[in-house]
Amino acid sequence: MSERIESVLQEKRSFSSPEAFKAKARLNDKMAYNRLYRQSLDEPDTFWGNVANELHWFEPWDKVREWHEPFVKWFIGGKTNLAYNCLDRHLNSWRRNKAAIIWEGEPGDQRVLTYQDLHREVSKFANVLKGKDIGQGDRVAIYMPMIPEAAIAMLACARIGATHSVVFGGFSAAALADRINDATAKAVITADGGFRRGSVFPLKPAVDEALEQCETVESVFVVKRGNNDVAMQAGRDHWYHELMDEVPTDCPAEPLDAEHPLFILYTSGSTGKPKGVLHSTGGYQTYTYLTSKYIFDMRDEDVFWCTADVGWITGHSYIVYGPLLNGATQVMYEGVPNYPEPDRFWQLVEKYRVSTFYTAPTAIRAFIKWGDAWPKCCDLSSLRLLGTVGEPINPEAWIWYQQVIGNGNCPIVDTWWQTETGGIMITTLPGVHEAKPGSAGLPFFGVEPAIVDVDGNEQAANDGGYLVIKRPWPSMLRTVYGDDDRYRAQYWSEIPHVYFAGDGARRDEDGYFWIMGRVDDVVNVSGHRLGTMEVESALVSHEAVAEAAVVGRPDEIKGQAIVAFVTLEEGRLGNEDLRKALLQHVSKEIGAIAKPEEIRFADALPKTRSGKIMRRLLRNIAAGEEASGDISTLEDKSVIEQLMQSG
Ligand code: WT7
Repeated sequence: MSERIESVLQEKRSFSSPEAFKAKARLNDKMAYNRLYRQSLDEPDTFWGNVANELHWFEPWDKVREWHEPFVKWFIGGKTNLAYNCLDRHLNSWRRNKAAIIWEGEPGDQRVLTYQDLHREVSKFANVLKGKDIGQGDRVAIYMPMIPEAAIAMLACARIGATHSVVFGGFSAAALADRINDATAKAVITADGGFRRGSVFPLKPAVDEALEQCETVESVFVVKRGNNDVAMQAGRDHWYHELMDEVPTDCPAEPLDAEHPLFILYTSGSTGKPKGVLHSTGGYQTYTYLTSKYIFDMRDEDVFWCTADVGWITGHSYIVYGPLLNGATQVMYEGVPNYPEPDRFWQLVEKYRVSTFYTAPTAIRAFIKWGDAWPKCCDLSSLRLLGTVGEPINPEAWIWYQQVIGNGNCPIVDTWWQTETGGIMITTLPGVHEAKPGSAGLPFFGVEPAIVDVDGNEQAANDGGYLVIKRPWPSMLRTVYGDDDRYRAQYWSEIPHVYFAGDGARRDEDGYFWIMGRVDDVVNVSGHRLGTMEVESALVSHEAVAEAAVVGRPDEIKGQAIVAFVTLEEGRLGNEDLRKALLQHVSKEIGAIAKPEEIRFADALPKTRSGKIMRRLLRNIAAGEEASGDISTLEDKSVIEQLMQSG
């Protein structure tokens, strides 16, 4: 927190929404935004009460908000059910037979589930879970490929009040075991395997390996997808399709308390093990419903496609919950963007006439690299709105996205938010605001951000500082699962009385926020947050490693790439074999996403006299820059020379 945040980006362009978009947009003038924004801050109870009332409540709430810093409650006393709001609510309307999910597998197989179909599958699977004695007060881990059953599993949990914890299918058995144990999950929902880059990646074997270290799991439900061979342990493991044949289709949604814990989602921090970010029901549903409606201008005629995986918050809020709350039709795709060819996404846009496309800057940079010919061969004329999320987008990539994918016809929403915020917090509203390439934009309704210095003083326009949020919003995380102290320390202590997001940013003279990246020891690789500490722990757990320091270096495609500086135990040699072994070790401990791009061996790491690793220096070295700033506290200056030559 001590380093000063300098703001360097000077981007002056701005773009209004195309007239054709504006003419039809739900909101299309700044006055309307200003009025609603003011109301959301001045009369939050009225504002959020009205929004929440667009959804179904079995019993009304007594009070909209209760704030005892750092703990918030929304819609106190109200009873609702998120699965009911996503599904049952639409069954009494013409949407009953509307496509909810248009799914395509990587091999090209397709399924369409209408709202009625999805309701039936969710109800049945909820009965399956109940049949194994799973319900309110239980946690269920979900470790799945991107198939409709991933959404069905989440919604089935929500329907009966079991708290889900989705673990990204790319995480290793060890990472899965940690998460299962932290949440003391009672069941795991998984698949034999899924398709990725033309072949099957196994999931069930990783579950088996994880469960050797987990004592709380009583049942494992296995969806057949990859057709790969898997072992089934009698009594514990069940085939999904077999159990689904045995249950009734009717399962009433349980009226749940508004503050009922809906899900836990683990995310990396700068220290210690991943944090179980806990979200609850009533506020989360209200906020994801409203953000989807306004930011994506979600309409019945739209075909929405968010390319995230359900293993991340984007998949929770803008694949499963937000779009279904709005009765939208969406595309869900299992595989990678460049299989069999780099035009797969554009083929999908053309085939399903996708109108709203939401992806990450890292994907956009990969598309640019693959060349314009791929998108240009497809008919993308159905697109009317584009979005990005996960990291700052460089203005050149923004312009490419607008020109080559949007053909100049689509507004772009650059959405800033976090696992912890549950929904989009800062963005421009399409049809209302001009977009400035590289800036996320303005606060959404109910959000009151500020840029402050270490002491909490607000900064002048364009001065860099810490991004904080000055009041709680409905989908704010409620705590770190099982660790209120860590919750308080992480989010409510760095700067008093505000939510500390962990990002550096500035606000320009028009009130637009420019996010400059993390201020803690977190790297953002392909839009996914990884704690450097986690990767360091993984490295140090290898017998050859004495000490490790991990930093991010700017990477053209991934945003940041991981560079590890490693010192070895006496007598070990830093050669190519060891390098490979360490990469494999990290994959096994965390998952392939955490594999360092580069490992540099050294005799020592640069430290201050008090023994703290000087990460700033390592970041310079990793980026191939001259060591900048003050190195007077460096214990042994020759270390730098050696590290610079090790690259
Ligand atoms: C961190 C949160 C929210 C879903 C994806 C990531 C960075 C996110 C933007 C954006 C600049 C962004 C921030 C944030 N970030 N969106 N539009 N512009 N930076 O979720 O893993 O919880 O990571 O991602 O640094 O703190 P996450």
